[in-house]
Amino acid sequence: MSCLGIIMPFFKKKKKPEVQVQPVSISKIDEERTYTRSDPDGTEAPQPNPRSKTTSFRQSGESGVGSGGGSSGSSATAGGRHSPSQSPSLNGSSTPNLQSANSDSPHNTSSIQFFREWLEKAKEEFEEKWRNPQPCTATLDDFDRLKTLGTGSFGRVMLVQHKSTKEYYAMKILDKQKVVKLKQVEHTLNEKKILHAINFPFLVTLKYHFKDNSNLYMVLEYIPGGEMFSHLRKTGRFSEPHSRFYAAQIVLVFEYLHYLDLIYRDLKPENLLIDSQGYIKVTDFGFAKRVKGRTWTLCGTPEYLAPEIILSKGYNKAVDWWALGVLVFEMAAGYPPFFADQPIQIYEKIVSGKVRFPSHFSNDLKDLLRNLLQVDLTKRYGNLKNGVNDIKSHKWFSTTDWIAIFQKKDQAPLRPNVRHAGDSRYFEPVPDDEETFNISVDDPFGKYFEEF
Ligand code: ADE
Repeated sequence: MSCLGIIMPFFKKKKKPEVQVQPVSISKIDEERTYTRSDPDGTEAPQPNPRSKTTSFRQSGESGVGSGGGSSGSSATAGGRHSPSQSPSLNGSSTPNLQSANSDSPHNTSSIQFFREWLEKAKEEFEEKWRNPQPCTATLDDFDRLKTLGTGSFGRVMLVQHKSTKEYYAMKILDKQKVVKLKQVEHTLNEKKILHAINFPFLVTLKYHFKDNSNLYMVLEYIPGGEMFSHLRKTGRFSEPHSRFYAAQIVLVFEYLHYLDLIYRDLKPENLLIDSQGYIKVTDFGFAKRVKGRTWTLCGTPEYLAPEIILSKGYNKAVDWWALGVLVFEMAAGYPPFFADQPIQIYEKIVSGKVRFPSHFSNDLKDLLRNLLQVDLTKRYGNLKNGVNDIKSHKWFSTTDWIAIFQKKDQAPLRPNVRHAGDSRYFEPVPDDEETFNISVDDPFGKYFEEF
């Protein structure tokens, strides 16, 4: 069971944290998941542990930018300032320190230049779409519904086929009434608005969206290789090169999103799908938000929360870099760096500033993780004056050709055995629920979703 021969108790899937929260990730959040913790040192005695559910707990003072977000924001705290150490180097107003990258390393001056130019164009495209939301582009009747891929507390994701084009898609269906009751209206509007405007090789694409009296629908490209979560639990842990291959894609994803002032806020293996080439597609933008400056909502999954979120401080994009540290640890170890039976115990560990690494971790990996899992925001990589370039030029990534990854030219370490476009073998069967499609004759919650 364990790659290392030391079998530790396994961990079940997430329990609700002790605070009043709403689990909102739609991707199989109610499904029991387990992972085996193989700890070669055996110094901690892990207990059977539910993987915590996604959390969303609104605090006062949240603010956003653009027409969709921040309706309840407090002007006193809205649009918080960057301290000098918090300005990403690629934010247009500051010049990247090109000296920071070793010119022999794959992340050299020309690679920095390549991404800078690419991002500048991408931002123009994004802004154009952000300002011009698309009207509804299909109806439920255009699709045959084939199989439920995942369920959540206010909806489900289904594999569907477009009746005329025969293309397969993943249709995310959100029950308006439940979205309102769980106070996720603003998050849902953010999700659709962001999905409509983004375009990046490692992010799922929104193909159509529409609504009826009961539900909201987002029709996304179908990614047949399943969740990284299932592959990771099956294998135990990934080798460092394998972990690095995925980590590099997440670094590029965050570089892109942050450049557009988007924070993702829900990184975890459950939200990372594997495409037919073995590359990642990040899904579930239910917590993504356009924020210039700081925000205050407690949301995410306990194991992946940055200390500043737990401590109810205003926080910024640096929470995604912390989460990257958690993900890289979890991929390479097979278990996350901070775990416990109860969320409150997880939170204590997160804010303690202490991490124990398995003995098989390389020195370079440990060094990178110490800099990402850094409680002090003025020292956390990704949040310093060189921004993402401190991460891209770190020694652990010295073999990573960033442009080759971006262009999907590197061979993936794991290529799913997908036989045809609509193959769903990498998704566990989930019961279908025809009630979802008993569409109401009236629309009492329609007023909340006019913008959708
Ligand atoms: N595309 C977007 N979300 C998806 C999911 N959960 N499963 C498969 N493909 C998807």
